[in-house]
Amino acid sequence: MRRGFYTRATAIADPDMVDVPVARLTSRSYADELARNIDDQRATPSASLAPFPVLGAEGSDTTHLSTLDADGSAVALTYTLEEGYGAKAVVAGAGFLLNNEMGDFNLIPGRTDVTGRIGTPPNLIAGGKRMLSSQTPTIVLRDGRVRLVTGSPGGRTIPNTTLWVVLNVLDFGLDGRAAVDAPRTHHPWFPDVLTLEGPASNWPEPVRAALQALGHRVQLGGIQGDAHSIVVDPESGTVEGVADRRRETSRAAGD
Ligand code: DON
Repeated sequence: MRRGFYTRATAIADPDMVDVPVARLTSRSYADELARNIDDQRATPSASLAPFPVLGAEGSDTTHLSTLDADGSAVALTYTLEEGYGAKAVVAGAGFLLNNEMGDFNLIPGRTDVTGRIGTPPNLIAGGKRMLSSQTPTIVLRDGRVRLVTGSPGGRTIPNTTLWVVLNVLDFGLDGRAAVDAPRTHHPWFPDVLTLEGPASNWPEPVRAALQALGHRVQLGGIQGDAHSIVVDPESGTVEGVADRRRETSRAAGD
């Protein structure tokens, strides 16, 4: 089936427009050719059949980009529509969609519970009020010059993802690659759980045991964020663009 669909994708279409090699595709020798690289002990990764790079799945919602130009001007942009097509309204004449962030308000006044529903007063819905966002596009300056540009998608995990990149660069002295690659954690107040970014191998058992001994309720999560960042070395001024590898569709200049 896999090879049949590979053949369909690479050789078959409207024969009035495309030269479909019917004789070859229906020949025993072509069937033998396909069959020869079937491994009885192991499924073939589909991408290995393609004679071109197969792209990863592009995210369907929020994204973050970081830029820095030769004059030292930086942009950190976290961009969201929320659900598909946002508010489902396009700005006439401008051609872009309006987002829908109503879910970022505290929905039920007074209802704050252990599941993470927040009902505290400051962010309750009111006419003309802007909802509280987790988005934290960040530019760090040192002596007036850009030191770090970062930010991330990921809903409520965003501030903690951004915090990790900032801590890793400024406090732990990691270079950009290491700062972005390092496993992250997330605690949102409620639920009262510390989520450790998976896979489990990120967190040796003694580390997890130490966190639990401190009283943390610990759980293992999936990937946390997608923090495309730029780190500028304060001494040399060298600029390091770092695409977060957690989602596969992004590249930094120079990658
Ligand atoms: O601003 C917020 O808190 C959310 N509307 C952000 C949405 C988001 O990050 C979705 N994510 N991947």
